Amino acid sequence: MVDIYVMGKHYAVPEGLTILTALEYCGYRIIRGCGCRAGFCGACATIYNFKNDPVLRYDLACQKTVEQDMYLTQIPFFPAVKAQYDLEQIKAAGEQILALYPDIVKCFGCNTCTKTCPQELEVMWYMSDALRGDIREVALKSFDCVMCGLCAARCPQGLVPYNVAILCRRLYGRYLAPVSDHLEQRIADIESGKCNSDVEKLKKADENELRRLYSERDIEPAY
Ligand code: FES
Repeated sequence: MVDIYVMGKHYAVPEGLTILTALEYCGYRIIRGCGCRAGFCGACATIYNFKNDPVLRYDLACQKTVEQDMYLTQIPFFPAVKAQYDLEQIKAAGEQILALYPDIVKCFGCNTCTKTCPQELEVMWYMSDALRGDIREVALKSFDCVMCGLCAARCPQGLVPYNVAILCRRLYGRYLAPVSDHLEQRIADIESGKCNSDVEKLKKADENELRRLYSERDIEPAY
């Protein structure tokens, strides 16, 4: 068993549990603060430290396993600056980033955002790319962002890197990314009914078969 502390209260939980399952083992019913349970949705952002070790650590509760003397707290939702825009009405020009998020000039390079990111992204570097108006670099460097919000929670200047990043990924995807010929071809195949028999086979497959097919699928590189 492992000793953990949830909001100051001691619990002994089995070794190997994730923080999320450990909370449930302790009797918490998680109806907010979790979603996919697979490290993708970013809903389970968690801050913790250890007994007699005040340094804060950051992780996704569905991925991180409990450790001895962990002190845990989950971050509740808090509002963050999010620019309103219509992607069809804005241009993929570098100055667009600053027009929608003028506060990014306040970044003083403390790098807290990078240290906070559970995805180990170079958040401060993509924020400096954003300042230079380099949409492509921001989009590529933030590709694995799960929008958990920890970077914004810890930014001493109140900046919201994850919203800046998704603006750039949207602009990049809509206007700048090279057109994918095989995607066009696949859409045409779907619309012509060419995939119907394969879809029917998938619908009849059991879980093991679906897992096997999923793990053996071809994955296109992100860029
Ligand atoms: S529950 Fe979705 S990332 Fe943890």
